[in-house]
Amino acid sequence: MDLAAVLEFMVPSIHGTIMAEYLALAFDSTALRMSCGVEGIPIQCPWLTMSNTSAVSNAKPRLPKTVVLIGLMGAGKTSVGRRLAEMLGVEFVDADSEIEEAAGCTIADFFERYGEEVFRRGEERVIARLLKNRPCVLATGGGAYMSSDTRAAINAHGLSLWLKADLDVLYERVARRSDRPLLHTDDPRGTLEAIMKVRYPVYAEADLTVQSYRGPIEQTVERAYQTLVDYIAATDEAAQ
Ligand code: S3P
Repeated sequence: MDLAAVLEFMVPSIHGTIMAEYLALAFDSTALRMSCGVEGIPIQCPWLTMSNTSAVSNAKPRLPKTVVLIGLMGAGKTSVGRRLAEMLGVEFVDADSEIEEAAGCTIADFFERYGEEVFRRGEERVIARLLKNRPCVLATGGGAYMSSDTRAAINAHGLSLWLKADLDVLYERVARRSDRPLLHTDDPRGTLEAIMKVRYPVYAEADLTVQSYRGPIEQTVERAYQTLVDYIAATDEAAQ
């Protein structure tokens, strides 16, 4: 694909500055951003600052690959991921936050302005870029794993962990907030259920699965941590 041509097409046709910034970050290319002639936008490279913050090298067990948390909205990917990263002594990265930072707006605003299709393409590129960084815990948006390109990238560079939860648990959690554009429908519970039916068979392809129950998040964190420890020990053993 000719990226410069894509930028040339998309930037004027959608929204000059924000899209240029978003696409340039997604394509991991400051050069492309500069070549778009976008002015007055600070050069931000969030992925450059990610690696120098909280990573602790004496983590046990040593994480061989990025742990990619997948699951439906409300599964707890961000809260579990943050604690899991602490326990593993690696950085926590949230793909949705990266997208929001690159786009300069919230995901809800992004959906409203450009639609889901544009969001999905950007999401694929941002995740592909994040997977090239040093191993971390990476929480992804609920739709990310539905992309076959993203699944292939995760298979190649990461370890997928599905945080699985029942509809009631998910709905209780998502009902507290209104920032999920896909649930802005007349029947958000029914919508969530329909999305669940389509996605769960695909999520089931993940390397690991951990159930996320109602109740304190710490229990899910502990289960996820133990699942990872066991997996890493088993793969280390098989490699010897
Ligand atoms: C989405 C889930 C959201 C966000 C976007 C789309 C989805 O992330 O990426 O609203 O398709 O399920 P969370 O799963 O973190 O809520």
